Amino acid sequence: MKKLLIHLFLIGLLVSNFQLFTAFKKSEINVDLAEQSFVRKADPEIKKEAFEILKSKCNVCHKRKNPFKIFSLKNMDRHAKKIYKQVFVYRRMPKGDSVKLTDEEYQTLKNWLKSKNFK
Ligand code: HEC
Repeated sequence: MKKLLIHLFLIGLLVSNFQLFTAFKKSEINVDLAEQSFVRKADPEIKKEAFEILKSKCNVCHKRKNPFKIFSLKNMDRHAKKIYKQVFVYRRMPKGDSVKLTDEEYQTLKNWLKSKNFK
């Protein structure tokens, strides 16, 4: 009887580990998909509008203070995730008080990110 219980216990452990493992695998796949949506191409018109903002409100300062992140039509999709985080999540950018985005500009950036299928 005791042996049977130990067996059952071990089988239970195996099953739950397997479930944990597959859940982990699944979440990894989801993260991958989320990353991809930031690289995916956006609607070209909306992208152009967003680029005008990056150029006039972000590059002006980055040119002097952060030359490794000068946004262009070519690299902005690649930087979309960081831009999203800095502007909408951490609200660190635009840095300081000298440059401000209007509500409309925030909306345009959001539309660009959304047109990349990112919610
Ligand atoms: C007044 C200056 C200034 C303005 C305006 C500005 N930035 Fe920055 N930004 C910086 C500096 C300096 C850094 C590097 C140091 C840091 O991260 O604080 C930086 C870093 C960043 C980074 C990289 C953060 C990381 O994860 O390494 C991103 C993305 C970024 N800025 C996006 C933007 C966007 C988008 C705008 C416009 C909406 C903007 N910035 C406007 C000065 C500025």
